Amino acid sequence: MRVITKIQDMQTEIINLKSQSKSIGFVPTMGFLHEGHLTLLKRAREENDIVVLSIFVNPLQFGPTEDFSTYPRDFDRDQSLAECEGVDYLLYPSVEDMYPHPSSVKVIVQERTNVLCGKSRPGHFDGVATVLTKLFNIVLPTRAYFGKKDAQQVAVVEGLITDFNFPIELIPVDIVREDNGLAKSSRNVNLLPDERRQAVTLYKSLSAAKETIYRGERNPRTITSLISNMIRSETNGEIDYVEIYSYPQLKELETIVGTCIIAIAVKFSKVRLIDNIILEVSQEIGGAK
Ligand code: PAF
Repeated sequence: MRVITKIQDMQTEIINLKSQSKSIGFVPTMGFLHEGHLTLLKRAREENDIVVLSIFVNPLQFGPTEDFSTYPRDFDRDQSLAECEGVDYLLYPSVEDMYPHPSSVKVIVQERTNVLCGKSRPGHFDGVATVLTKLFNIVLPTRAYFGKKDAQQVAVVEGLITDFNFPIELIPVDIVREDNGLAKSSRNVNLLPDERRQAVTLYKSLSAAKETIYRGERNPRTITSLISNMIRSETNGEIDYVEIYSYPQLKELETIVGTCIIAIAVKFSKVRLIDNIILEVSQEIGGAK
């Protein structure tokens, strides 16, 4: 594995690889790799000749009160994990190399951002779209891998790739879950023992919602109430949101039909957890996958 810190060096390598018609699988991250990232790397390794991992804590996507300086970083550990997953190139640019002067252009995301987590993070997805535009231009990937845990980010990236005609295949990768259904996250370590048991209700409530839709319920309010009631009665968590939208457009639905997402965020004492399921729902009863 080669660690590359200079953008220009990465571009020289990529041009050479492209001239040999190599397919390039790209996993962009902010480092402090966890199991979710490793799943993306494994998938990229299976499907491409070359795997590029980027580690860059992107200041543009942090709000003024957010934790850019304290965001966890452990490059040595990340480097060994990347090596174990068979990464070919680890792109690790500095902020000065990525943003050498105040940007004259930035990407503004106009849709899909004022709901779910984006509602409370104005400008966050503009920062994500801007850095990804730069990274896509540097790495020129054949395929780019993103976890469905952050389904809103996947929706924004889908819009970016489509609207800006990036010749990249977006590969959304399924959420990795524990045996009891709890979505894996590095944040789960901040759950108290009792909260860890309660947190299982997040996926249980999403599964109950899916079952209810499968049996014929198509009213979004009925489904969000069902989920909220389960979370309130089985956990001490405070609900941040329980929402249903079309996917990936993230538009409100009068009736649950088509591809839709049910997404939830719940605050426990020291950590806020998110989870979601994406369903294909037809008009007919029983028509949910
Ligand atoms: O999901 C992340 O880690 C970041 O938002 C990303 C996609 C690497 C852009 O900085």
